[in-house]
Amino acid sequence: MKFEKNILCIGAGYVGGPTMAMIAHECPQYKVTIVDINPDRIAQWNSDSLPIYEPGLDELVKATRDRNLFFSTDIEQGIRENDIIFVSVNTPTKTFGTGAGMAADLQYWEKTARQILEHSTSPKIVIEKSTLPVRTAHAMERILNSTQKSVRFDVLSNPEFLAEGTAINDLKNPDRVLIGSRETEEGLKARNALVEIYANWVPRKKIITANIWSSELSKLVSNAFLAQRVSSINAISALCEKTEADVSEVAKAVGSDSRIGSRFLNASIGFGGSCFKKDILNLVYLCRHYGLDDVADYWEGVIKINFYQQERFVQNMLTAMFNTLAGKRICLFGFAFKANTGDTRESPAIYVARRLLEEQAEVVITDPKALDNARIDLANAQGKIHFVDDPYEAAKGCHAIAIMTEWALYGELDYARLYRDAEKPAFIFDGRNILDPQHCFEVGFNVFSIGKRPRTHF
Ligand code: NAD
Ligand code: UDX
Repeated sequence: MKFEKNILCIGAGYVGGPTMAMIAHECPQYKVTIVDINPDRIAQWNSDSLPIYEPGLDELVKATRDRNLFFSTDIEQGIRENDIIFVSVNTPTKTFGTGAGMAADLQYWEKTARQILEHSTSPKIVIEKSTLPVRTAHAMERILNSTQKSVRFDVLSNPEFLAEGTAINDLKNPDRVLIGSRETEEGLKARNALVEIYANWVPRKKIITANIWSSELSKLVSNAFLAQRVSSINAISALCEKTEADVSEVAKAVGSDSRIGSRFLNASIGFGGSCFKKDILNLVYLCRHYGLDDVADYWEGVIKINFYQQERFVQNMLTAMFNTLAGKRICLFGFAFKANTGDTRESPAIYVARRLLEEQAEVVITDPKALDNARIDLANAQGKIHFVDDPYEAAKGCHAIAIMTEWALYGELDYARLYRDAEKPAFIFDGRNILDPQHCFEVGFNVFSIGKRPRTHF
């Protein structure tokens, strides 16, 4: 069969996989190929057991795989045969050298750019799907045009805004699709080619075009704004605990102002995930690079509050449980960084588990989708750790339950039964405010929620 367009995506991760599956699904007239350097990952994408858990993804892949969606490890062939190339490799925080702990590690991205240059024999539109520091497209262009090769490359920025757990709906009905390009004749032509792809299912008015630097920067700023809302309400949760105000009531009152809006105001144990911290650190690093130290300090505060919130949670546990956790069994309900994903990258549960182990507590971890990742995250942690599938089994004989992830199932458990099987006095620390604190108190627990008055039996 002859396809209208041949599209390649380099990087078969949380973004590359679902995004390309959506394009393949909505555009049966295009052939979409996803390549990755990791052969195990590609084998999983080609199997019945996909490498990531995302509601609705299995169905999407089943409907398109081997029809117009293909997974392969042959990156060179992919580059040769496709004229539109999305780059969706990982861009984690640098862990070494200059900028360690702050700047984006661009080695995977740069390797890809060089590979595209080496294997291209026809004009390519290269699309930055990964989240990158502003002005990376300039570096990409310099690499692609660094030889005498007479192949034309146009670089576009098309950051991805999907959130894990809701990725399929976010891709199907995005708030917006952002496409940045050079404002030259060739740049605009390349931009139109990408607009045409999305226009197969996204209303035109939701496809925003911009200059390439605005597009790159908008991605970092979007994540910074979202994370800032979480840190803002988390900061207020600490004040609520001192003043008998209730953070849920405050969030409702504040969020009802249409200028503010109600979303992303759920006080929690802190934000996790592979993006927020990394992208804000990147923003802070960029601001410092340009000598904007006051701006950098402002955004760094968002991360400081997030750390403070996680440590505050552990301190509250310690204080409530008579200032010692040594030898106590503590059950963590959830390990994923949010519900409906198995992803544990930067999950606050990692920090809490490690701190509890430092306090010599025995930690029992349960999660419906993230236990394999949890085992990897805690592989070198010292102390007694257990991984248990069933939440009732996990909590049996524990001195405390701490809710780490807002999985709906934890709101539906029988807390009277959990209390009966708990070590007394029994404690619940609800790091996501998903439980009815009064009910849990009435069945016998001492209940500590985020930003609410504690309910204790002593
Ligand atoms: P990921 O780690 O899940 O996937 C990246 C993939 O790229 C991996 O499978 C890796 O093997 C592959 N890879 C690395 N170097 C390669 C190379 N040279 N050639 C071929 N494959 C290579 O990462 P992710 O979560 O999909 O994120 C990818 C990018 O998208 C990042 O820049 C991230 O900031 C951004 N982003 C992520 C999310 C999210 O929710 N995870 C949302 C929006 C944007
Ligand atoms: C985020 C952005 O939302 C998405 O647009 C971007 O493309 C990738 O980064 P993600 O990290 O997958 O997505 O999930 P998100 O829903 O943003 O949640 C991030 C963290 O904030 C989670 O740990 C979540 O539990 C926490 N959070 C979110 C809160 O604690 N309170 C809230 O009100 C909202």
